[in-house]
Amino acid sequence: MAEKKRLFTGLQSSGELHIGNYLGALKPFVEMYGQYDSMLMVADYHALTSLKDPDQLRKNIFDTVADYLAAGVTPENAVIFQQSDVPEHTEAAWIFECLVTVPFLMQAHAYKDKVARGLEANAGLFNYPMLMAADILLYDTDIVPIGQDQRQHVEYAREAAAKFNSTYGQTFKEPQELIRAEVGNIPGVDGKKMSKSYKNTIPLFDSDDAIRGAVMSITTDSTPVGQPLNPQTDIVFALHRHFAKNLPDLEKRYQEGTIGYKESKELLVQSIIDTIGPMREIRASLSHDAVSKILKQGAEAARARASQKMKDVRKKIGVTL
Ligand code: TYM
Repeated sequence: MAEKKRLFTGLQSSGELHIGNYLGALKPFVEMYGQYDSMLMVADYHALTSLKDPDQLRKNIFDTVADYLAAGVTPENAVIFQQSDVPEHTEAAWIFECLVTVPFLMQAHAYKDKVARGLEANAGLFNYPMLMAADILLYDTDIVPIGQDQRQHVEYAREAAAKFNSTYGQTFKEPQELIRAEVGNIPGVDGKKMSKSYKNTIPLFDSDDAIRGAVMSITTDSTPVGQPLNPQTDIVFALHRHFAKNLPDLEKRYQEGTIGYKESKELLVQSIIDTIGPMREIRASLSHDAVSKILKQGAEAARARASQKMKDVRKKIGVTL
């Protein structure tokens, strides 16, 4: 029997998961991971580029794993692990950093964008794509399900693999990103890409009130009730596409002018709450010990693979005597 392909993705534990993370990366992962040899990582060292509060980071790590489990990932079918538990990631990142140039890293959109928005330009943030390359490449990953904003980072991972391979001989597989067109760029409440750093998110697992507050704040135009609304340009409708039970009916109401933005937003709140209801129950049932156990097992499985790979890498670069 042919070996299963490796699927790998990760989410930063830098704050509450939002529906952009869920629809763009986690849900696609959940829908396909059973057919692959799958790994799902908590990118806690990536989170350190912006988060310097240890209690908050600890809480976020627990929450991220809880979100994974609530969304339907089972530890029997995927290695769920914490990036910081596998030191080979930072080690491999260093080796890749010695292969790529500063001008190359300076072209990273995510870095430029974050700095432009006032985030501290720390060296970790700058080198971030090489840590992500290490995450992916250490496990001979074939496919990386992500949102559109991470596309360039997977290209960087391919570049790191190619640089290493041409310098030291074939070692790393070049991975492919998997971006679903319809969910690759979920808009936030202001219509820009939903992102923690834009403060325009709709939380995935917060209280009903928090979800309602975010949805009600979605920017709309001033079309009065009774007039047709444009489903192609409305942000509320764009989000309905992922949650509505009867989208054609809603579209008809938009076109006929029999729904206003307020009602549309209320329907969206309800659809989101209905979708996440069963997930919330799983999430609420998870104990600290259960999550720690999953992470411990995940760390062992990931380390076994990563250390094997690094043994070969160390030999090839010439540090093993
Ligand atoms: P992060 O934590 O910013 O986002 C997690 C995932 O959510 C996707 N995403 C979106 N998708 C659609 N619409 C949006 N508005 C939206 N916002 C976020 C992201 O594209 C991502 O897939 N560097 C990564 C984490 C990481 C990683 C990895 C991912 C570290 N190592 C290795 C894959 C493989 C990040 O910061 O994602």
